[in-house]
Amino acid sequence: MNIKAIITGTGCYVPPKVVTNFDLEKLMNTSDEWIRQRSGIVERHYAESGVGSSDLAYEAAIKAIESAGIEKSDIDFIIAATLSPDYYFPGIGVLVQAKLGLASIGALDVRNQCTGFIYALSVADQFIRAQTYKKILVVAAEVQSPNLDYSDDGRDMAVLFGDGAGAVIIEPNKNEDKGILSTHLFSDGRYATELWMEKPGCKERPFLSKEMLESKQRYAQMDGRRVFINAVEKMPEAVNIALKQNGLTIEDVDHLIPHQANDRISQMVATNLKIPVEKVVRNIDRFGNTTAASIPIALDETLKEGKIKKGDIVVLTAFGSGFTWGSAIIRF
Ligand SMILES: CC(C)(COP(=O)(O)OP(=O)(O)OC[C@H]1O[C@@H](n2cnc3c(N)ncnc32)[C@H](O)[C@@H]1OP(=O)(O)O)[C@@H](O)C(=O)NCCC(=O)NCCS
Repeated sequence: MNIKAIITGTGCYVPPKVVTNFDLEKLMNTSDEWIRQRSGIVERHYAESGVGSSDLAYEAAIKAIESAGIEKSDIDFIIAATLSPDYYFPGIGVLVQAKLGLASIGALDVRNQCTGFIYALSVADQFIRAQTYKKILVVAAEVQSPNLDYSDDGRDMAVLFGDGAGAVIIEPNKNEDKGILSTHLFSDGRYATELWMEKPGCKERPFLSKEMLESKQRYAQMDGRRVFINAVEKMPEAVNIALKQNGLTIEDVDHLIPHQANDRISQMVATNLKIPVEKVVRNIDRFGNTTAASIPIALDETLKEGKIKKGDIVVLTAFGSGFTWGSAIIRF
């Protein structure tokens, strides 16, 4: 029997504090007009001090568990994706496990930044098809606001990012027509330094220094143009490879959910794929770029709005630090 992995529940959570472009205008030399024009972002959510990505992940996980109609105790494996863990180590997977009160099940952490959810989904898909686990929680969460550079030097990055979490429950499905049809994962480490947070890192002696804390290398840095150019090329490439493998064309796609990096990127991905922009899920205006969490948040919203019908083909695609990128095709 050919078992497929199916998404049986979704959930998302963003912290209550809303930060508008006008709020950022007070901190740095930027403007609502610049941010809207260049990124499509209007507002984003920030967690309060003391709230970590594991806390947001827990809230999203609880909603996904409820929507799947299962009990917490039914979950037999956790995969957690974040670039902003509560601690340097351990990762947030075990923290989510403890918050859910689940004893001794495995918890895996995925560190693939903006592509983290697609990598995590792919791992879950393999485990389900291999019949290793039956109810996997895949959760992606970010608390990026504490480590953004709110000075003028950091304004290219600081205006883009937000905090939030999204989760899905993955289970086996014997109906071969429904479920995750494929996942495709890619990377090119030659571009690791184009979008990264360099310090602190275990390469340096000392691990932490006063100079380091005062330097810009302790913040995420990027070559925005290069990221942009690669993102609009690699996401369509990953989608086209996946469509071809499944014998589908772009006309078969009902909803495209790209990682919400920048609305101009999403629009250009639509143009490059020749898919009507109305089929592209875009919510960056309200959340900013929530890195690994952006796709599961967008998926949860689209499902709960009732826009995804039985039999619909939903395509996910992401691009980010690494560089890493990928795609997933799901029939609902
Ligand atoms: C960052 C990004 C929005 C910049 O947009 P852009 O159109 O490429 O803008 P430019 O790089 O041409 O910068 C234009 C000017 O705006 C300035 N600028 C940068 N950030 C600014 C801000 N927040 N407010 C006002 N001005 C800003 C720049 O300093 C530059 O000024 P200069 O011309 O005097 O040097 C865009 O490159 C981008 O979205 N890249 C991808 C980023 C991304 O998605 N990263 C995460 C990937 S998962």
